[in-house]
Amino acid sequence: MEKKRVLSGMQASGRLHLGNLLGALEKWKKLQDEYECFYFIADWHALSTSYEDTHEIKDNVFNIAVDWLAAGINPEKSTIFLQSMIPEHAVLHLLLSMITPVPWLERNPTYKEKQQEIKDRDLTTYGFLGYPVLQAADIIIYKANYVPVGIDQLSHLELTREIIRRFYYIYKKTIFIEPEALVSEVPKLPGLDNRKMSKSYGNAIFLSDTPDTVTRKVRTMITDPQRVKKSDIGNPEICTVFKFHKIFSPARDASEIYTGCTTAGIGCTDCKLMLARDLNDYVKPIFEKRKELSGKPEKINEILQEGSKRARTIAKQTLSEVQEAMGLLVS
Ligand code: TRP
Ligand code: SF4
Repeated sequence: MEKKRVLSGMQASGRLHLGNLLGALEKWKKLQDEYECFYFIADWHALSTSYEDTHEIKDNVFNIAVDWLAAGINPEKSTIFLQSMIPEHAVLHLLLSMITPVPWLERNPTYKEKQQEIKDRDLTTYGFLGYPVLQAADIIIYKANYVPVGIDQLSHLELTREIIRRFYYIYKKTIFIEPEALVSEVPKLPGLDNRKMSKSYGNAIFLSDTPDTVTRKVRTMITDPQRVKKSDIGNPEICTVFKFHKIFSPARDASEIYTGCTTAGIGCTDCKLMLARDLNDYVKPIFEKRKELSGKPEKINEILQEGSKRARTIAKQTLSEVQEAMGLLVS
């Protein structure tokens, strides 16, 4: 039986952090063994909010590719590619835009939320409104069965399915497959300040951080605010440091820390030092591989070129089917 197809993407808007590792990459890595996987870097999507300042996009593409490979996304198992290397996504985006009612886009929750969140940029553009149409094109051009994403992307997936249904309603051709979201159950990793880990909050630990930087960042983590002196009893359940111990430390250490904290047997400084050590152990293989790959830009470029070539064959095929269904000349 043919393997089902998985597709996912990340916007090229910054280096990846531990939240991305747990929330996406570790899952993507597992999926590689069971499915035919397509993973791509969405550099056009990055333009939707950064069109005025694009100087980081190229570096982000490179760094994200390095992060993926270092985290175990394997180009021999998965097709790794760059959105802008497949112009067919843009053509399909245009064709889908002809049948997508504007009110569907205006009522998309992420459209309103992001506009409210990002006040320093003008997001009244056509491209920003059409963000989910481009995302729909990304997905359906590969006829993906499953799309691993975070819950914030579910509205985009629903819109993708609505566009597919509308396409069928108008042209009576079943070309596309309605994709299903694979939502990861991983709890959201807090950042240093206990808010959600995010590059824009400045509270993230990056996969590219050196061990010293990791240690320094861990030192600034918020602990139980009620615990002022070492002799105070602490509550690990509300402590950011402990949330990290539960994920990144061996189970025995975590339970020792729990007891130590609730009996005032261990101080926060030592607790943090243990975390820094465990965290650095956890990310060491990724950090080492990252270091090695960072020095080989040609290799990264080659992987993206190679993956894009493979992806493009499929994208071209689907686009011809769409052109045919819509009564256009097939190019
Ligand atoms: N919108 C996604 C995000 O911000 C990125 C993305 C673009 C994507 N195209 C996609 C994800 C297609 C899955 C499938 O994370
Ligand atoms: Fe948090 Fe550790 Fe301090 Fe307890 S000892 S409050 S778990 S940092």
